[in-house]
Amino acid sequence: MNAEEICRLAPVIPVLTIRDARLAAPLARALSAGGLRALEVTLRTPAALEAIRAMAAAAPDAVVGAGTLTRPDQVAQAVEAGARFGVSPGATPALMEAARAAGLPLLPGVATPSEAMAAMERGFTTLKFFPAEVNGGVAALSAWAAPLAGLKFCPTGGITRANARDYLALSNVLCVGGSWVAPADLVAAEDWRAITRLAAEAAALRPAAA
Ligand code: 3PG
Repeated sequence: MNAEEICRLAPVIPVLTIRDARLAAPLARALSAGGLRALEVTLRTPAALEAIRAMAAAAPDAVVGAGTLTRPDQVAQAVEAGARFGVSPGATPALMEAARAAGLPLLPGVATPSEAMAAMERGFTTLKFFPAEVNGGVAALSAWAAPLAGLKFCPTGGITRANARDYLALSNVLCVGGSWVAPADLVAAEDWRAITRLAAEAAALRPAAA
């Protein structure tokens, strides 16, 4: 699957920062049971790589990726752990080349048209718009649609159940990313049923571009 196909799996990619790898498997099963199939585990905790491994094994229907890729050497670590896609807050040439060389589909992060065009010049046409809300949100991304035709986005950063629908109504948005479907308190409480409910609510959203 390429990055666009991964973004079309479900309208929301949960952004998961996992501190206890033992919770990764039930969390993946809870999200997958709700219908969210692409799961992003941020590489921000010591448990992240082990969590990716556990999730990939526990939820065969899920496509587990590694987020917060900020250095090229993390691409190999992510692939080795079983990540099937990568997500980055930025779009450095070295990171994009490392992902391409490893065959890892990557959502590079962009916040300006020039960054989006630089990624496009390297063949990346499905991008993360980050951080979405503080960079102009729905209005900004809507204004990008005509001049940056051919680019598709997964906006992330500040997206909630309240504004996800507005992003998904845009013609250049395939899916959104967000942490709201797996709140830290529900994960800590191991309230998997509540997380499946949030996931199902998110999975029922319909992207206009899909
Ligand atoms: C992040 O960097 O943590 C992601 O963009 C998720 O952001 P959110 O917590 O605002 O959904």
